[in-house]
Amino acid sequence: MKNRVTDILGIEKPILQGPMNWITNAEFVAAMSNAGGLGILGPNAGQKTVTASPEETAERMRREIRKTKELTDKPFGSTLIVGGDLKYTWPILEIVIAEGVQVALLNGVEGTLTEKIITPLKEAGIKIVYRPLNPTIEDAKAAQAMGVDIYVVTGFD
Ligand SMILES: Cc1cc2nc3c(=O)[nH]c(=O)nc-3n(C[C@H](O)[C@H](O)[C@H](O)COP(=O)(O)O)c2cc1C
Repeated sequence: MKNRVTDILGIEKPILQGPMNWITNAEFVAAMSNAGGLGILGPNAGQKTVTASPEETAERMRREIRKTKELTDKPFGSTLIVGGDLKYTWPILEIVIAEGVQVALLNGVEGTLTEKIITPLKEAGIKIVYRPLNPTIEDAKAAQAMGVDIYVVTGFD
């Protein structure tokens, strides 16, 4: 079934798998993408231990992205948390771009999504799915003006 979502994301079926912190790892995400939807790696995908280091968090995400690429040649997404001081966001953003991930799922807190984050992703040809904590019409319009490709209105856990 084709619609605007499948066209934007380059997938076969308009179904996006909700990212789940820790749970939605490479195997889960690849299975979803191989089935024609969009698998999305959650924060801490595939991990069993906690690290406070932004660099180590990003390197772990790089390994999980590479593992996903071994398991599927279909598009998949990776999560970026956009909130607070963004110290985890920037190193993961660099890795998402460097690894050629096709879709970035942004979990955003009001007022923290800016063109500084959107522009490098857009320039790399990455599609942006934005899932704000509290969606509003004003926020959706602002996101659209910044170049967000898909706006999710469910909020997030
Ligand atoms: C354990 C768990 C972790 C989750 N972590 C995230 C997350 O990191 N980011 C996010 O956007 N949503 C997260 N969610 C929400 C899911 O993406 C999804 O919206 C939710 O499970 C409802 O989807 P469903 O109606 O298909 O069950 C999480 C949900 C669960 C159960």
